[in-house]
Amino acid sequence: MSTEQFEQTLVLIKPDALKNSLTGYVLSLLSEFHTGLRFAGAKIVHVSKMLAEEHYAEHRGKVFYPSLIDYIMGRLHYPDLPHKRRVIAFVYQGPDATQKMRDICGPTNPHVARETRPGCVRSLGTIVPIKDAEGKIIGDRMDNLIHASATDAEAEREIKLWFQPVDIPPAMRAYPTEINEEHYYCKDSKLFVTQESGSVSLLAPGDIAWKSDLDTLRLLHKGESAPQTLEAVAAKYLINVAQEAN
Ligand code: GTP
Ligand code: MG
Repeated sequence: MSTEQFEQTLVLIKPDALKNSLTGYVLSLLSEFHTGLRFAGAKIVHVSKMLAEEHYAEHRGKVFYPSLIDYIMGRLHYPDLPHKRRVIAFVYQGPDATQKMRDICGPTNPHVARETRPGCVRSLGTIVPIKDAEGKIIGDRMDNLIHASATDAEAEREIKLWFQPVDIPPAMRAYPTEINEEHYYCKDSKLFVTQESGSVSLLAPGDIAWKSDLDTLRLLHKGESAPQTLEAVAAKYLINVAQEAN
């Protein structure tokens, strides 16, 4: 397959789309018939804080960041129903995957989307005021139904954050993989190569992993600086492993 055929992008159907039962409609707009793109991966994800914070790391510190994290975790749309807090994550593959998906999503702000690109997915979104503890409006939140990677580099980072290689058929994997030879565990944001009380297993010998994850784990284990954080690697292996405390 040519490199162009291999282009991949991450799409997330966000909690507001699930709550409003828009999943089928949105997926129809993204279908192979309309886009020429194929599914390479799909999963239902209960989004942990770790995963949410890694996904939106570039927005850390901004006024809307805390509500953005609550939003993608489904806490705002399902405050009392944690079992309904889900995102559907897809990898789409094919020529111009990233640009095609961004075009169908439309502008980030639903008001701008309605004004400039009626019919795009985000033209169906809403803007919600963010209030402080006293009820004063301090900003707003954009509930825009869908996420799509902004660039090919972002697509690679995001696909590797949400998907393990085994979630994607071997012939459709776009990034280098490697067979792991170590035990890796995580506890309190620390990496271990032996099981500790309360630690969770990330990888065992024989598991297939993204090569970039194993490069990171080897460096972190040696105490050296690595291109990504432990959380950026661990979040994916902990997807759907445990129900977080509310
Ligand atoms: P995503 O596909 O969700 O990543 O959206 P995007 O790529 O169009 O925008 P970006 O990555 O810059 O922002 C991520 C999310 O943060 C958006 O979907 C919005 O919900 C929110 N966001 C981004 N910029 C703003 C802003 O200026 N104000 C507010 N209130 N929210 C913002
Ligand atoms: Mg973005």
